[in-house]
Amino acid sequence: MTTRIGIDAGGTLTKIAYWDRENKMSFKSFLSSDFQGVREWIENKHSSSAICLTGGRAEQLKKFLLSKQDLPYMVEFDATMNGVMYQMKQEVISSSSAIIANIGTGTSIHIMHDKTHSRIAGSGIGGGTLLGLGMALTGLTNYKEMIALSKDGKRSTIDVLVSDIYKDNKLPITGSLTASNFGGVTLKPEQARSRADLLAGIQGIIGEVVATLCIQAAEAHGVKDIIYIGSTLEENSLLQEIIESYTILKNKNPIFLEKHGYSGAIGALLENN
Ligand SMILES: Nc1ncnc2c1ncn2[C@@H]1O[C@H](COP(=O)(O)OP(=O)(O)OP(=O)(O)O)[C@@H](O)[C@H]1O
Ligand SMILES: [Mg+2]
Repeated sequence: MTTRIGIDAGGTLTKIAYWDRENKMSFKSFLSSDFQGVREWIENKHSSSAICLTGGRAEQLKKFLLSKQDLPYMVEFDATMNGVMYQMKQEVISSSSAIIANIGTGTSIHIMHDKTHSRIAGSGIGGGTLLGLGMALTGLTNYKEMIALSKDGKRSTIDVLVSDIYKDNKLPITGSLTASNFGGVTLKPEQARSRADLLAGIQGIIGEVVATLCIQAAEAHGVKDIIYIGSTLEENSLLQEIIESYTILKNKNPIFLEKHGYSGAIGALLENN
């Protein structure tokens, strides 16, 4: 039986970090549409644990849990930063100043200087966009299925590259850069497109928009490290590759943490101590 748990109730997923019997940090997640599942998990396995909540849906979850004790709440961004710093220490990554992008349902961008942080930008392009556009264009609804299929996709049928436009002309910028995400759908009408190609194209939009915002933020603040977190990176090597290659191309240092989506839950768990 564990004694403490940290819960990050987000727009799409509710993430839980807790100590297991061997005192090892462990993780569990539920869809935020399944608060019933969260309640049962707590009642069955962790009924006497001290809970600390964070995330945009924390208040809703608190009401749903009908807890007799007043559950402590931690501001989401504070919890996330604490969780990021804990993971960096565990993974022996050091950075005194970094941009942090949390690619959740939407994307929130922060700057961290030593132990202080502030929110500097955001975008509605995030994991919700991946699921939403993916569903609209392919009919698939399952995240893991979409991610797996996207890995077989060819973005060349969906996007227009700078080199597609400049062809034999002298290139003004790197030819392999995307000139237009999804522009190929109208400009390359002769090409056949599969669901995998469409999903790969969607991943391209999300990765490139988020990385571009972060690179610009890093340049504006004179920072080199960019830490990308959020469950949208979970088991999603294609998105990581898109983000990583573009960030490196722009001379910034991309950092991914092992527990992509769990920084908020980890921060809430540790606050509880
Ligand atoms: N099992 C899953 N089911 C659904 N989406 C998943 C799953 N695993 C990863 N995802 C992706 O993770 C995204 C949610 O990321 P995350 O959990 O970081 O956001 P959130 O905390 O729920 O949202 P926010 O922080 O914006 O309130 C989804 O939009 C989806 O792209
Ligand atoms: Mg979140």
